[in-house]
Amino acid sequence: MASPSKRLDKIPPYLFAEVARAKREAIARGVDVIDLGIGDPDLPTPQPIIDALSEAANDPSTHRYDESARGYIPFLESATRWYGRTFGVELDPANDVCQVIGSKEGLAHLAWSYIDPGDYSITPDPGYPVYKVNTLMAGGEVYETPLKRENGYMPVLADIPTDVAKKAKLFYVCYPSNPTAGVATREFYEDAVAFCRDNDIVLVNDMAYATVTFDGHVNPTALQVPGGKDVTVEFHSLSKMYNMTGWRLGFAIGNPDVVATLQKLKSNIDSKQFAAVSKAGAVALDSVDNTATMKTYQRRRDLLCDGLAELGWHIDKPKATLFVWAPVPRNDMTSAEFVAALIEKTGVVTVPGGGAGPSGEGYIRMALTLPGDKDGERFAEAVRRIRESGLVS
Ligand SMILES: Cc1ncc(COP(=O)(O)O)c(C=O)c1O
Repeated sequence: MASPSKRLDKIPPYLFAEVARAKREAIARGVDVIDLGIGDPDLPTPQPIIDALSEAANDPSTHRYDESARGYIPFLESATRWYGRTFGVELDPANDVCQVIGSKEGLAHLAWSYIDPGDYSITPDPGYPVYKVNTLMAGGEVYETPLKRENGYMPVLADIPTDVAKKAKLFYVCYPSNPTAGVATREFYEDAVAFCRDNDIVLVNDMAYATVTFDGHVNPTALQVPGGKDVTVEFHSLSKMYNMTGWRLGFAIGNPDVVATLQKLKSNIDSKQFAAVSKAGAVALDSVDNTATMKTYQRRRDLLCDGLAELGWHIDKPKATLFVWAPVPRNDMTSAEFVAALIEKTGVVTVPGGGAGPSGEGYIRMALTLPGDKDGERFAEAVRRIRESGLVS
Protein backbone atom coordinates (compact mmCIF):
# COMPACT_ATOMS: atom_id res chain seq x y z
CA MET A 1 0.00 0.00 0.00
CA ALA A 2 1.34 3.44 -0.90
CA SER A 3 2.02 5.74 2.03
CA PRO A 4 -0.12 8.86 2.40
CA SER A 5 1.40 12.26 1.64
CA LYS A 6 3.68 13.61 4.36
CA ARG A 7 1.56 16.75 4.40
CA LEU A 8 -1.09 14.79 6.28
CA ASP A 9 1.39 14.48 9.17
CA LYS A 10 0.90 18.22 9.69
CA ILE A 11 -2.68 17.65 10.79
CA PRO A 12 -2.72 17.86 14.60
CA PRO A 13 -4.41 15.06 16.59
CA TYR A 14 -8.14 15.50 17.18
CA LEU A 15 -8.07 17.62 20.31
CA PHE A 16 -11.54 16.79 21.50
CA ALA A 17 -11.02 13.01 21.35
CA GLU A 18 -10.82 12.87 25.16
CA VAL A 19 -14.15 14.75 25.49
CA ALA A 20 -15.76 12.41 22.94
CA ARG A 21 -14.50 9.38 24.91
CA ALA A 22 -15.80 10.73 28.25
CA LYS A 23 -19.17 11.48 26.62
CA ARG A 24 -19.42 7.94 25.19
CA GLU A 25 -18.63 6.48 28.61
CA ALA A 26 -21.25 8.64 30.31
CA ILE A 27 -23.89 7.52 27.78
CA ALA A 28 -22.86 3.89 28.30
CA ARG A 29 -23.38 4.40 32.08
CA GLY A 30 -26.94 5.53 31.32
CA VAL A 31 -26.31 9.21 32.10
CA ASP A 32 -28.78 11.66 30.55
CA VAL A 33 -26.08 13.69 28.77
CA ILE A 34 -26.63 17.41 28.01
CA ASP A 35 -24.28 17.96 25.10
CA LEU A 36 -23.16 21.58 24.78
CA GLY A 37 -20.08 20.50 22.82
CA ILE A 38 -20.46 21.08 19.09
CA GLY A 39 -22.38 24.14 17.87
CA ASP A 40 -24.63 22.60 15.23
CA PRO A 41 -28.11 24.23 14.97
CA ASP A 42 -30.71 21.84 16.37
CA LEU A 43 -33.74 23.64 14.92
CA PRO A 44 -34.91 22.57 11.45
CA THR A 45 -34.23 24.52 8.28
CA PRO A 46 -37.18 26.90 7.72
CA GLN A 47 -39.95 25.32 5.62
CA PRO A 48 -39.87 27.84 2.72
CA ILE A 49 -36.25 26.83 2.04
CA ILE A 50 -37.12 23.12 2.07
CA ASP A 51 -40.08 23.78 -0.23
CA ALA A 52 -37.82 25.72 -2.62
CA LEU A 53 -35.36 22.82 -2.69
CA SER A 54 -38.11 20.33 -3.34
CA GLU A 55 -39.48 22.38 -6.23
CA ALA A 56 -36.02 22.97 -7.69
CA ALA A 57 -35.06 19.30 -7.37
CA ASN A 58 -38.10 18.46 -9.50
CA ASP A 59 -36.80 20.72 -12.24
CA PRO A 60 -34.51 18.60 -14.47
CA SER A 61 -32.50 21.68 -15.48
CA THR A 62 -30.92 21.57 -11.99
CA HIS A 63 -29.68 17.99 -12.47
CA ARG A 64 -26.75 18.81 -14.68
CA TYR A 65 -23.36 20.43 -14.03
CA ASP A 66 -23.58 24.08 -13.07
CA GLU A 67 -21.32 25.52 -15.77
CA SER A 68 -21.37 29.10 -14.51
CA ALA A 69 -18.05 30.84 -13.85
CA ARG A 70 -18.39 31.46 -10.10
CA GLY A 71 -21.53 29.68 -8.99
CA TYR A 72 -25.25 29.61 -9.68
CA ILE A 73 -25.97 33.15 -10.92
CA PRO A 74 -29.32 33.74 -9.11
CA PHE A 75 -27.59 32.68 -5.88
CA LEU A 76 -24.73 35.15 -6.43
CA GLU A 77 -27.27 37.90 -7.16
CA SER A 78 -29.17 37.07 -3.97
CA ALA A 79 -25.90 37.04 -2.00
CA THR A 80 -24.92 40.53 -3.16
CA ARG A 81 -28.47 41.83 -2.56
CA TRP A 82 -28.40 40.34 0.95
CA TYR A 83 -24.99 41.91 1.57
CA GLY A 84 -26.27 45.32 0.47
CA ARG A 85 -29.38 45.07 2.68
CA THR A 86 -27.52 43.73 5.71
CA PHE A 87 -24.30 45.76 5.65
CA GLY A 88 -25.06 48.65 3.30
CA VAL A 89 -22.27 47.78 0.86
CA GLU A 90 -23.07 47.36 -2.83
CA LEU A 91 -21.03 44.69 -4.60
CA ASP A 92 -21.01 43.28 -8.11
CA PRO A 93 -22.56 39.81 -8.49
CA ALA A 94 -20.53 39.20 -11.67
CA ASN A 95 -17.08 39.80 -10.16
CA ASP A 96 -17.06 40.27 -6.40
CA VAL A 97 -18.51 36.97 -5.22
CA CYS A 98 -18.14 33.23 -5.71
CA GLN A 99 -20.11 30.36 -4.27
CA VAL A 100 -18.46 27.90 -1.86
CA ILE A 101 -19.55 24.45 -0.74
CA GLY A 102 -19.82 25.62 2.85
CA SER A 103 -17.47 28.32 4.09
CA LYS A 104 -15.07 25.68 5.47
CA GLU A 105 -14.31 24.55 1.93
CA GLY A 106 -13.64 28.13 0.79
CA LEU A 107 -11.52 29.08 3.80
CA ALA A 108 -9.41 25.94 3.31
CA HIS A 109 -8.95 26.38 -0.42
CA LEU A 110 -8.02 30.03 -0.01
CA ALA A 111 -4.87 28.88 1.81
CA TRP A 112 -4.09 26.50 -1.07
CA SER A 113 -4.64 29.37 -3.54
CA TYR A 114 -2.13 31.70 -1.88
CA ILE A 115 0.38 29.90 0.32
CA ASP A 116 3.73 28.59 -0.93
CA PRO A 117 6.47 27.16 1.30
CA GLY A 118 7.88 29.98 3.43
CA ASP A 119 4.75 32.12 3.25
CA TYR A 120 2.86 32.95 6.41
CA SER A 121 -0.78 33.04 7.42
CA ILE A 122 -1.61 35.09 10.48
CA THR A 123 -4.33 33.26 12.41
CA PRO A 124 -6.35 33.69 15.62
CA ASP A 125 -5.44 31.90 18.86
CA PRO A 126 -7.83 30.46 19.95
CA GLY A 127 -9.43 29.88 16.58
CA TYR A 128 -11.23 27.63 14.15
CA PRO A 129 -8.47 25.18 13.13
CA VAL A 130 -9.13 25.19 9.36
CA TYR A 131 -7.01 28.32 8.63
CA LYS A 132 -3.97 26.93 10.37
CA VAL A 133 -4.13 23.31 9.22
CA ASN A 134 -4.53 24.18 5.54
CA THR A 135 -1.73 26.76 5.66
CA LEU A 136 0.57 24.11 7.15
CA MET A 137 -0.48 21.46 4.62
CA ALA A 138 0.19 23.92 1.78
CA GLY A 139 3.76 24.18 3.12
CA GLY A 140 3.35 27.55 4.84
CA GLU A 141 4.00 28.83 8.34
CA VAL A 142 1.52 30.14 10.86
CA TYR A 143 1.82 33.12 13.19
CA GLU A 144 -0.87 32.96 15.84
CA THR A 145 -2.25 36.19 17.31
CA PRO A 146 -3.45 35.79 20.92
CA LEU A 147 -7.05 36.86 21.50
CA LYS A 148 -7.36 38.25 25.02
CA ARG A 149 -10.42 39.43 26.88
CA GLU A 150 -8.68 42.71 27.80
CA ASN A 151 -8.37 43.47 24.06
CA GLY A 152 -11.97 42.57 23.29
CA TYR A 153 -10.70 39.28 21.78
CA MET A 154 -9.15 41.22 18.87
CA PRO A 155 -5.49 40.78 17.88
CA VAL A 156 -3.02 43.54 18.75
CA LEU A 157 -1.62 44.46 15.35
CA ALA A 158 1.43 46.22 16.81
CA ASP A 159 2.53 42.91 18.35
CA ILE A 160 2.85 41.18 14.97
CA PRO A 161 6.59 41.07 14.17
CA THR A 162 7.63 43.04 11.06
CA ASP A 163 9.37 40.05 9.47
CA VAL A 164 6.18 37.98 9.86
CA ALA A 165 4.08 40.78 8.33
CA LYS A 166 6.50 40.89 5.36
CA LYS A 167 6.21 37.16 4.74
CA ALA A 168 2.46 36.95 5.38
CA LYS A 169 -0.02 36.57 2.53
CA LEU A 170 -3.21 35.89 4.48
CA PHE A 171 -4.49 37.41 7.72
CA TYR A 172 -7.41 35.28 8.92
CA VAL A 173 -9.79 36.86 11.40
CA CYS A 174 -13.15 35.52 12.51
CA TYR A 175 -15.90 37.85 13.76
CA PRO A 176 -18.14 37.19 15.47
CA SER A 177 -15.58 34.79 16.89
CA ASN A 178 -15.67 31.08 17.33
CA PRO A 179 -14.72 30.21 20.05
CA THR A 180 -14.49 33.45 22.08
CA ALA A 181 -17.85 34.93 20.93
CA GLY A 182 -16.03 38.29 20.70
CA VAL A 183 -17.22 40.83 18.15
CA ALA A 184 -15.00 43.19 16.16
CA THR A 185 -15.24 46.97 16.17
CA ARG A 186 -15.24 49.24 13.15
CA GLU A 187 -11.92 50.70 14.44
CA PHE A 188 -10.34 47.25 14.43
CA TYR A 189 -11.33 46.76 10.80
CA GLU A 190 -9.93 50.17 9.88
CA ASP A 191 -6.60 49.26 11.48
CA ALA A 192 -6.58 45.74 9.99
CA VAL A 193 -7.32 47.08 6.49
CA ALA A 194 -4.46 49.61 6.81
CA PHE A 195 -2.12 46.90 8.15
CA CYS A 196 -2.95 44.56 5.25
CA ARG A 197 -2.63 47.34 2.68
CA ASP A 198 0.79 48.37 4.06
CA ASN A 199 2.04 44.79 4.03
CA ASP A 200 0.36 43.41 0.87
CA ILE A 201 -1.70 40.91 2.80
CA VAL A 202 -5.21 39.62 2.06
CA LEU A 203 -7.55 40.20 5.01
CA VAL A 204 -9.74 37.11 5.29
CA ASN A 205 -12.78 37.67 7.48
CA ASP A 206 -14.64 34.49 8.43
CA MET A 207 -18.16 35.75 9.14
CA ALA A 208 -19.94 32.40 9.54
CA TYR A 209 -21.84 33.91 12.52
CA ALA A 210 -22.45 37.35 10.97
CA THR A 211 -26.19 37.34 11.63
CA VAL A 212 -26.29 35.04 14.64
CA THR A 213 -26.75 38.01 16.95
CA PHE A 214 -28.59 38.97 20.13
CA ASP A 215 -29.97 42.08 21.82
CA GLY A 216 -30.14 43.88 18.45
CA HIS A 217 -26.36 43.77 17.95
CA VAL A 218 -25.29 44.51 14.36
CA ASN A 219 -21.83 43.43 13.25
CA PRO A 220 -19.63 45.79 11.28
CA THR A 221 -17.63 44.35 8.38
CA ALA A 222 -14.22 45.06 6.88
CA LEU A 223 -15.83 45.83 3.51
CA GLN A 224 -17.60 48.85 5.08
CA VAL A 225 -14.25 50.52 5.74
CA PRO A 226 -13.02 52.89 3.00
CA GLY A 227 -10.49 50.91 0.96
CA GLY A 228 -11.63 47.67 2.60
CA LYS A 229 -12.43 46.04 -0.73
CA ASP A 230 -8.83 46.59 -1.90
CA VAL A 231 -7.56 43.96 0.54
CA THR A 232 -10.52 42.01 1.96
CA VAL A 233 -12.41 38.84 1.24
CA GLU A 234 -15.20 37.74 3.57
CA PHE A 235 -16.69 34.29 3.93
CA HIS A 236 -20.39 34.00 4.70
CA SER A 237 -22.33 30.86 5.36
CA LEU A 238 -25.98 29.86 5.30
CA SER A 239 -25.21 27.11 7.85
CA LYS A 240 -25.81 28.96 11.09
CA MET A 241 -27.95 31.77 9.70
CA TYR A 242 -30.71 29.44 8.48
CA ASN A 243 -30.02 26.12 10.26
CA MET A 244 -28.52 24.69 7.07
CA THR A 245 -25.24 23.06 8.18
CA GLY A 246 -25.91 19.91 6.19
CA TRP A 247 -26.71 21.77 2.96
CA ARG A 248 -23.14 23.03 2.43
CA LEU A 249 -23.65 26.51 1.08
CA GLY A 250 -21.83 29.80 1.48
CA PHE A 251 -20.01 32.48 -0.47
CA ALA A 252 -16.77 34.42 -0.63
CA ILE A 253 -17.28 38.12 -1.27
CA GLY A 254 -15.07 41.19 -1.61
CA ASN A 255 -11.93 41.84 -3.61
CA PRO A 256 -12.55 40.55 -7.17
CA ASP A 257 -8.93 39.40 -7.71
CA VAL A 258 -9.01 37.31 -4.55
CA VAL A 259 -12.39 35.86 -5.51
CA ALA A 260 -11.04 35.01 -9.00
CA THR A 261 -7.91 33.41 -7.53
CA LEU A 262 -9.96 31.19 -5.24
CA GLN A 263 -12.29 30.30 -8.10
CA LYS A 264 -9.32 29.36 -10.33
CA LEU A 265 -8.28 26.71 -7.82
CA LYS A 266 -11.84 25.57 -7.14
CA SER A 267 -12.68 25.10 -10.80
CA ASN A 268 -9.98 22.41 -10.84
CA ILE A 269 -11.31 20.68 -7.74
CA ASP A 270 -15.12 20.86 -7.55
CA SER A 271 -17.93 21.29 -10.04
CA LYS A 272 -20.00 23.56 -7.80
CA GLN A 273 -22.99 22.90 -5.57
CA PHE A 274 -26.18 21.15 -6.71
CA ALA A 275 -28.16 23.92 -8.48
CA ALA A 276 -31.34 23.00 -6.57
CA VAL A 277 -29.54 23.65 -3.26
CA SER A 278 -28.23 26.93 -4.68
CA LYS A 279 -31.73 27.91 -5.79
CA ALA A 280 -33.12 27.22 -2.30
CA GLY A 281 -30.23 29.20 -0.84
CA ALA A 282 -31.21 32.19 -2.98
CA VAL A 283 -34.75 31.98 -1.56
CA ALA A 284 -33.30 31.90 1.96
CA LEU A 285 -31.14 34.98 1.40
CA ASP A 286 -33.91 36.92 -0.32
CA SER A 287 -36.86 36.23 1.94
CA VAL A 288 -36.28 34.14 5.07
CA ASP A 289 -36.19 35.83 8.45
CA ASN A 290 -34.15 34.09 11.19
CA THR A 291 -35.45 36.16 14.12
CA ALA A 292 -37.37 33.30 15.78
CA THR A 293 -34.29 31.08 15.83
CA MET A 294 -32.19 33.88 17.33
CA LYS A 295 -34.79 34.40 20.06
CA THR A 296 -34.51 30.75 21.01
CA TYR A 297 -30.70 31.01 21.27
CA GLN A 298 -30.99 34.23 23.25
CA ARG A 299 -33.37 32.65 25.76
CA ARG A 300 -30.97 29.71 26.20
CA ARG A 301 -28.06 32.12 26.59
CA ASP A 302 -29.88 34.03 29.31
CA LEU A 303 -30.95 30.91 31.20
CA LEU A 304 -27.37 29.63 31.13
CA CYS A 305 -25.47 32.86 31.88
CA ASP A 306 -27.95 34.24 34.46
CA GLY A 307 -28.30 30.84 36.15
CA LEU A 308 -24.53 30.38 36.41
CA ALA A 309 -24.08 33.97 37.61
CA GLU A 310 -26.34 33.10 40.56
CA LEU A 311 -23.76 30.45 41.49
CA GLY A 312 -21.05 33.11 41.43
CA TRP A 313 -19.77 32.05 37.97
CA HIS A 314 -19.66 35.33 36.05
CA ILE A 315 -19.56 34.96 32.28
CA ASP A 316 -19.70 37.66 29.59
CA LYS A 317 -23.02 37.31 27.79
CA PRO A 318 -22.24 36.87 24.09
CA LYS A 319 -23.66 39.43 21.65
CA ALA A 320 -23.31 36.93 18.81
CA THR A 321 -22.39 33.35 17.81
CA LEU A 322 -23.69 30.05 19.09
CA PHE A 323 -21.23 30.00 21.96
CA VAL A 324 -20.73 31.03 25.55
CA TRP A 325 -17.02 31.45 26.37
CA ALA A 326 -16.67 30.97 30.10
CA PRO A 327 -13.62 31.34 32.33
CA VAL A 328 -12.88 28.12 34.24
CA PRO A 329 -14.40 28.93 37.64
CA ARG A 330 -11.65 27.28 39.71
CA ASN A 331 -7.92 27.76 39.93
CA ASP A 332 -7.06 24.14 40.74
CA MET A 333 -8.07 22.75 37.31
CA THR A 334 -7.05 23.19 33.68
CA SER A 335 -9.84 23.66 31.15
CA ALA A 336 -9.56 19.98 30.15
CA GLU A 337 -9.73 18.85 33.79
CA PHE A 338 -12.78 21.03 34.44
CA VAL A 339 -14.54 19.73 31.32
CA ALA A 340 -13.82 16.14 32.46
CA ALA A 341 -15.16 16.89 35.97
CA LEU A 342 -18.31 18.47 34.51
CA ILE A 343 -19.06 15.40 32.39
CA GLU A 344 -18.33 13.05 35.29
CA LYS A 345 -20.42 14.88 37.90
CA THR A 346 -23.21 16.47 35.85
CA GLY A 347 -23.38 14.82 32.41
CA VAL A 348 -22.96 18.29 30.87
CA VAL A 349 -20.57 18.16 27.91
CA THR A 350 -18.53 21.26 27.02
CA VAL A 351 -15.20 21.75 25.23
CA PRO A 352 -11.91 22.92 26.73
CA GLY A 353 -10.71 26.27 25.39
CA GLY A 354 -7.11 25.05 25.34
CA GLY A 355 -8.09 22.75 22.45
CA ALA A 356 -8.61 25.78 20.18
CA GLY A 357 -5.16 27.24 20.90
CA PRO A 358 -2.90 28.05 23.86
CA SER A 359 -4.61 31.38 24.59
CA GLY A 360 -7.89 29.50 25.02
CA GLU A 361 -6.54 27.78 28.14
CA GLY A 362 -8.46 28.93 31.21
CA TYR A 363 -11.79 28.90 29.34
CA ILE A 364 -14.43 26.43 28.29
CA ARG A 365 -16.89 26.78 25.42
CA MET A 366 -20.59 25.95 25.77
CA ALA A 367 -22.83 25.78 22.69
CA LEU A 368 -26.35 27.19 22.61
CA THR A 369 -27.52 24.37 20.36
CA LEU A 370 -29.07 21.26 21.87
CA PRO A 371 -31.30 18.74 20.11
CA GLY A 372 -34.40 18.05 22.19
CA ASP A 373 -34.43 21.44 23.95
CA LYS A 374 -37.60 23.40 23.24
CA ASP A 375 -37.55 26.58 25.24
CA GLY A 376 -34.37 26.49 27.29
CA GLU A 377 -35.53 23.83 29.77
CA ARG A 378 -32.44 21.67 29.18
CA PHE A 379 -30.20 24.69 29.78
CA ALA A 380 -32.00 25.34 33.07
CA GLU A 381 -31.46 21.67 33.89
CA ALA A 382 -27.71 22.03 33.11
CA VAL A 383 -27.51 24.93 35.58
CA ARG A 384 -29.39 22.94 38.22
CA ARG A 385 -26.99 20.01 37.88
CA ILE A 386 -23.93 22.26 38.01
CA ARG A 387 -25.28 23.89 41.18
CA GLU A 388 -25.81 20.50 42.82
CA SER A 389 -22.40 19.21 41.76
CA GLY A 390 -20.62 21.80 43.94
CA LEU A 391 -18.03 22.22 41.18
CA VAL A 392 -18.49 25.98 41.17
CA SER A 393 -17.68 27.29 44.58
C1 LIG B 1 -15.77 29.97 12.66
C2 LIG B 1 -16.34 29.04 11.66
N1 LIG B 1 -16.10 29.26 10.36
C3 LIG B 1 -16.59 28.44 9.42
C4 LIG B 1 -17.34 27.34 9.75
C5 LIG B 1 -17.80 26.44 8.66
O1 LIG B 1 -19.12 26.58 8.36
P1 LIG B 1 -19.76 25.98 7.02
O2 LIG B 1 -18.66 25.22 6.31
O3 LIG B 1 -20.85 25.08 7.47
O4 LIG B 1 -20.20 27.15 6.23
C6 LIG B 1 -17.62 27.06 11.09
C7 LIG B 1 -18.40 25.88 11.45
O5 LIG B 1 -18.58 25.51 12.57
C8 LIG B 1 -17.11 27.94 12.07
O6 LIG B 1 -17.35 27.74 13.37
